[in-house]
Amino acid sequence: MRSWFEYECIDCGKRQPPEKRFYVCPECGGLLEIELDLQYISERLDREALERKPLNVWRYRQFLPIVDESKIVTLQEGGTPLYRCRRLEEKLGIAEFYVKYEGANPTGSFKDRGMTVGVTKALEFGVKTVACASTGNTSASLAAYAAKAGLKCLVILPSGKVALGKLAQAAIHGARIVAVKGNFDRALSLVRQICEKRGDIYLLNSLNPFRPQGQKTIGFEIADQLGWGVPDRLVVPMGNCANIWAIYKGFFELKEVGMIENIPRMVGIQAEGAKPIVDAVRKGIDKFIPVENPETIATAIRIGNPVNGSKAIRAIKRSGGTAESVTDEEIIEAQRELARSEGIGVEPASAAAIAGIKKLIERGEVDRDEKVVCVATGNVLKDPEEAVRVSESPLETEPEEVLKVVG
Ligand code: F0G
Repeated sequence: MRSWFEYECIDCGKRQPPEKRFYVCPECGGLLEIELDLQYISERLDREALERKPLNVWRYRQFLPIVDESKIVTLQEGGTPLYRCRRLEEKLGIAEFYVKYEGANPTGSFKDRGMTVGVTKALEFGVKTVACASTGNTSASLAAYAAKAGLKCLVILPSGKVALGKLAQAAIHGARIVAVKGNFDRALSLVRQICEKRGDIYLLNSLNPFRPQGQKTIGFEIADQLGWGVPDRLVVPMGNCANIWAIYKGFFELKEVGMIENIPRMVGIQAEGAKPIVDAVRKGIDKFIPVENPETIATAIRIGNPVNGSKAIRAIKRSGGTAESVTDEEIIEAQRELARSEGIGVEPASAAAIAGIKKLIERGEVDRDEKVVCVATGNVLKDPEEAVRVSESPLETEPEEVLKVVG
């Protein structure tokens, strides 16, 4: 390696120098990954110094591939709670059940971990504009980090399909929002074309290999919060499939440098109406067949052709994990159950993970003595309309009648 990190194609294995901007392999068009020189990191790793730093993404600076620390763009992302859910443990009949609450990030989703690294890279590359297509959270996060960095931000959204809270965030942070007819997959192909034509715009979708480098800190933090231990299973909702790979990669790197002993089984959950990866994993094949018209109440993961699908399949296979799908009804039930028995408010895509593991436990596919961590990827306020729709309506009454109706 010429540097302590480089791009590497997951298909042909060719490496590229990190000073250049790439989204896919220039040789074969395959997906790119950032490979770190783990030997180099391991020789310089000072665990005590690491543990003295506050719990957030930059606690793990030594694993984050940026060059110029003066350019770091941060809103103090990460350091999210790992809640032990005793009521759910009892209900589900499982030894240890935790929720890693990513809704506590600055813009309310795990995307902030990727954006602190991605937007820092944008400054290192010297661009003036950043762009993404999004089902909502990526655009909310990118808009905020671009604002912090003083960059322009362009977001392409599937018209009418983005939850209100997310749209509000992109708007208030001053992004240029373009809503296009069609679904997310279409929006993503459009923004890719724009960034290919316009070299001055940096693409910060999950095709961008630097973003998962920030998101891998979900794995770092979970291990750290468990006293450098790991759960038996790590459950995560899958949309464009960057996150499951990123978290897997986080555990992989920790194992390589000797900080943990095992990698948890990665369990990926999709919605019934958008489950190309679940189908591929069930069939035991490496190539997935895109779903043409994805449909689910969990708009964040309403994706039929996930760009990082093959990375997700790899993470599941290599960790001995699995994939499962859940219906919209199961998602809503899990969302309410988590909110009402544990006080944790999440958006539907995150509830999908809870619904999925519940199904696997009930079916006997998870041992009762296991330790399970579910990643709750986004805050309930992201999709307030859905939360109101699936809850009881307020009791409307005259002021004089209040005592009568409270029950
Ligand atoms: N959960 C939430 C709340 C999300 O917003 C997303 C993805 C996922 C899970 C799935 O993560 O794509 O890495 O598999 N949202 C993207 C967006 C697509 O545009 O905000 P993934």
